[in-house]
Amino acid sequence: MFVLVNLKTYPCDPLEIATAVRDVDETTDARLAVAPQAIHIERVAETGVETWAQHVDPIEHGSNTGHTLAESVADAGAVGTLVNHSERRLKLADIDGAVRAAERADLETVVCANNPEQIGAGAALGPDAVAVEPPELIGTGTPVSQADPGVVENAVVAAENVDDDVSVLCGAGISTGEDVTAADDLGTEGVLLASGVAKADNPRAALDDLVEPL
Ligand code: G3P
Repeated sequence: MFVLVNLKTYPCDPLEIATAVRDVDETTDARLAVAPQAIHIERVAETGVETWAQHVDPIEHGSNTGHTLAESVADAGAVGTLVNHSERRLKLADIDGAVRAAERADLETVVCANNPEQIGAGAALGPDAVAVEPPELIGTGTPVSQADPGVVENAVVAAENVDDDVSVLCGAGISTGEDVTAADDLGTEGVLLASGVAKADNPRAALDDLVEPL
């Protein structure tokens, strides 16, 4: 299972969490990675943890101001990027452009989507993975795998129907090893989570709990 920890703009210490993710990754067969804010990517990547960007823009080098260039996050040490997170939504053409920009920079891609229909559309753009996250469950602590298992199962089917090389992750409210096991049982290949680690009093303990059953 892939466990991708998105730090959003939470007031956590990105290096403390990066170090904990790196250390826990070494204790398990699961694959762990962290997605800090763009400004923290370089320092986080220097810890040796697998580092992802939270977003890249559908642009190339050139006349663009206030954008995030895929090549720059790759140079800073990111190996992958989220695209179209629920809190950073893009138009369809821009999702396509961001996936192409990430490919150009050799970044792995996870296209986020709210529901199975959008998962099918995201999978058609050829990312490495898609992630289904019902927005109403994000940050609630109520796991999507428990609150709405059908949306996860339907997302897996929707992605398979389009391209069975595209992996499916699920997210929203995931915070325990039990939630990760449930996501596995529903047919996903990983989880995308944030508050369960970024807002935890003890991020290391939260990470240990997440991977305990794996
Ligand atoms: O990117 C992960 C995310 O949107 C889910 O957030 O806090 O419910 O784990 P959370």
